[in-house]
Amino acid sequence: MSELTLDTITALAKRRGFVYQTSEIYGGLASSYDYGPLGTELLRNIKDKWWQELIRKKADMVGLDTQILLHPQTWVASGHVASFTDPLVEDKVTHKRYRADHLIEQWLAKQSTPPQLVVEEMDVAQMGAFIAEHKILSPDGNPVTAPKAFNILFETAVGAIEGEKSKVYLRGETAQGIFTNFRQVLDSSRVKLPFGIGQIGKSFRNEITTGQFVFRTLEFEQAEIEYFFDPEQTDWQALFQEWQNRMWDFVANTLGIRAENLCWRRHSDKERSHYSRETYDLDYRFPFGFKELWGVAYRTDYDLQQHIEHSGAKLTYTDPFSGKTFVPHVIEPAVGINRLFLMILCDAYWEDVANNRTVLRFKPELAPYKTAVFPLLRNKPELVHKAQAVYELIAPHHTTTWDDRGNIGKRYYYQDEIGTPFCITVDFDTLENNTVTVRHRDTTAQDRVNIDQLLSYLHDQLKI
Ligand code: GAP
Repeated sequence: MSELTLDTITALAKRRGFVYQTSEIYGGLASSYDYGPLGTELLRNIKDKWWQELIRKKADMVGLDTQILLHPQTWVASGHVASFTDPLVEDKVTHKRYRADHLIEQWLAKQSTPPQLVVEEMDVAQMGAFIAEHKILSPDGNPVTAPKAFNILFETAVGAIEGEKSKVYLRGETAQGIFTNFRQVLDSSRVKLPFGIGQIGKSFRNEITTGQFVFRTLEFEQAEIEYFFDPEQTDWQALFQEWQNRMWDFVANTLGIRAENLCWRRHSDKERSHYSRETYDLDYRFPFGFKELWGVAYRTDYDLQQHIEHSGAKLTYTDPFSGKTFVPHVIEPAVGINRLFLMILCDAYWEDVANNRTVLRFKPELAPYKTAVFPLLRNKPELVHKAQAVYELIAPHHTTTWDDRGNIGKRYYYQDEIGTPFCITVDFDTLENNTVTVRHRDTTAQDRVNIDQLLSYLHDQLKI
């Protein structure tokens, strides 16, 4: 198969209703995307899997759902107001803005013998010197300004009266809602260390980069866990490894992603966020190279200590056995749902040259529709009625769709391209012997199944 490009995935996603450009009728909004009918189902399936596997199934995990707007001091305490920045340069002619590190990466990729350097380890001044030395230009071929640290927190205001409005931020990570509720969770539930709090929710970053589809957007959904522990009782390195194993298992086994497309990358001292003592990224091989999918960081007691200092709240834990009072440490696995989404689309994409078709080979549990029901002909009421009965039989059990347009070959082609694992056809034999044809997406094999056994057959095949 030829190398998959981001354009191919973007075009399929739009054509089949997975992802649309936001506000397309007004010319779009940079780095912003809406999810169509199929994308919405896929997103929901990913979130359900994450919640089920990492929160509901674990006795040591609880969930939370906190606000997008938090008290602005939260972001002062967390360090985001001071250090949540990207290196920004501006094209001196068009005034378009770019990330300096990305311009350098793009320049390096074009060199036959590139200098050996790790862009993630460069600070703003080093990037500026490098851009000047190598006369790196913007994608439009113009000189750029010296890089500046640009804070990517989104600001907005609370209050109706001009002058009395107060500045707040759209959250840049969901994690802070967890830290600021630490005391409430302790006091209102039966948790004891070690335990984790997880949540899924929207985060916002004033990203400079454009053109990476849903990989990097202004608004995105995060699924984050803060796993609290006593560093004197729990070896943080062993716990860190345990979380790495869980992350890998979720991606490779629960989501069914090919292991050869995954790898770990350790952050260097320079690259690590201000709050972290150790960070690893689980990278996926996207069409534009191996890039961060899911990060895990040892945030120590940094955040709780910062909130204690700024709020005066008692964000400590008292061990019920020893009576020792201390500030717990935390390990944080943090993933973007939209990156999981893009990874799943890319990994599922398959051009079946032998059969002249494009297939999204989703794991059946993730497929937007598990089955599609067809009456062989739409102008034969007896076939349509029987097919409707089959649809109604299936619909309460899993997501199914109805299709009566065009010939059966075209319907298969369409369902393959949206990743529907099974197509069920009601034909004239069905009226005689109560059996339907079940066609398998990946092999195109067909089985004849009695409608009385259809639900248990699908249950076994779908493994749901
Ligand atoms: N609380 C830690 C934190 O937010 P991060 O590495 O900045 O760490 C965690 O973000 C995850 O969120 C990333 O691994 C990525 O999957 C996702 N993410 C971050 N910025 C994103 C963006 N602009 N668009 C889409 N996903 C993003």
